[in-house]
Amino acid sequence: MTEHQRPRAETEQSSAAGGDAPVFKPRKNGQYQSVSEELAAWMRTGWADTERRGLEPLDQAPYAAKRRAALSARFPGERIVVPAGNLKVRSNDTEYPFRAACDYVYLTGDQSEDGCLVLEPRAEGGHDATVYLLPRSDRGNGEFWLDGHGELWTGRRNSLTEASRLLGLASRDVRELPEVLREAPAAPTRIVRGHDAALEEVLASLREGGDEAEGAAAERDGELSVHLHDVRLVKDDWEVGQLQRAVDSTVRGFTDVVRALPEAQATSERYIEGTFFLRARVEGNDVGYGTIAASGPNATTLHWVRNDGPVRAGELLLLDAGVETTTLYTADVTRTLPISGTFTDVQRRVYDLVHAAQEAGIAAVAPGRPFRAFHEAAQRVLAEGLIEWGLLEGPLERVLELGLQRRYSLHGTGHMLGLDVHDCAAARTEGHVDGVLEPGMVLTVEPGLYFQPDDETAPEELRGIGVRIEDDVLVTAEGSRVLSAALPRASADVEAWLADLLPRG
Ligand code: GLY
Ligand code: MN
Ligand code: MN
Repeated sequence: MTEHQRPRAETEQSSAAGGDAPVFKPRKNGQYQSVSEELAAWMRTGWADTERRGLEPLDQAPYAAKRRAALSARFPGERIVVPAGNLKVRSNDTEYPFRAACDYVYLTGDQSEDGCLVLEPRAEGGHDATVYLLPRSDRGNGEFWLDGHGELWTGRRNSLTEASRLLGLASRDVRELPEVLREAPAAPTRIVRGHDAALEEVLASLREGGDEAEGAAAERDGELSVHLHDVRLVKDDWEVGQLQRAVDSTVRGFTDVVRALPEAQATSERYIEGTFFLRARVEGNDVGYGTIAASGPNATTLHWVRNDGPVRAGELLLLDAGVETTTLYTADVTRTLPISGTFTDVQRRVYDLVHAAQEAGIAAVAPGRPFRAFHEAAQRVLAEGLIEWGLLEGPLERVLELGLQRRYSLHGTGHMLGLDVHDCAAARTEGHVDGVLEPGMVLTVEPGLYFQPDDETAPEELRGIGVRIEDDVLVTAEGSRVLSAALPRASADVEAWLADLLPRG
């Protein structure tokens, strides 16, 4: 659909409307066109009442309420502003699919573009929480059909009453928010930055004191973001359920890909990306990050998302992909598969070493253990293997101290997982990478070995081989649970799985 067909309306009054009713004027070829008075009047009438009554709150509503209560207790007397973000232009009059900001989703359960949560401090303590949303399009002023963001173009939205019922939150028209903020009693205000530039400008205009005030405000806002990442580190039961859903869909997506290997060999890595994407869109919202479908030597490029290479018999396919649920929690899983169904001896040797490293890493995931323990355990196994193969010179402790194994291993062994694939990255290091694991944390364990095709330090038979195995692990009260355990991991199990799924002959 082009701009000509999908008009953008301006909010000025049109004389074509006649009477007092404002009519939006659509733009065509950069010009505003009017509509006839007769049509404008006719379009205002004849619409049924479709209000949905008796809606039940979303499953996540009570969880979001608890999170807001905790946030309120952490920032007494302060105004907290958490925007969902806005649409971003892709080109001309097309936009990227909208994906709401994680902190907003976490605190509201809502995913509406342009939405904003405000916690307004009460004089007697505590906060009033209100979500500001774009309401249903007004049929009385042309907004419904003449504005490119009207419901005729973008689909029906929840009414504010419906949204309040679903989210268990008071709601108001987001177009009133700048005025509400301007008129609000003085209170220290924090906003989660980086999602709604217009709202940040409104708040900046309300501050006085120039650069110094801006510097202090930026610091305060940064503290809010860090705090939200801190609290998101430990998932509640509902979130763990969502992550398991994401992983279960991802397991089905990996199975789809194995079945599609013959078609991929006839086309390219794109067939694999597309096959997984179909599962992600049908069962979830999207993929949680760009799928890495890396065949043969492309597997040695860590973030290979071009996915335009050939898929060849005899080579390995490294597939790193995750379904994001409709509630926006993502899995992050990697399997490295022999495209023909069986590993060659050298591929198996590399694979088995990575698998042993992963087993050691998973065994180190338990409550009270340092976050870094699983990384160190996995790196130790990789370094031992590389010394044994003669690629690195011992002793082991020297190799580990200098990190020499990283020439072939390249990345950290894992990260937190949740609404973001690299979740809670802004959390304070003492509760995160320098801290200890707690029940409810979910992380990936994903060691890898990568021998670049032009790495003359590696024996020729290893060059161009890349192997990563990645699973999603929940820290439990007793130890850990691998959420992605349904996907085979050991080389023999992977081969048996492929033998079941691949066409014979
Ligand atoms: N898929 C990106 C990662 O594994 O961290
Ligand atoms: Mn991954
Ligand atoms: Mn990962």
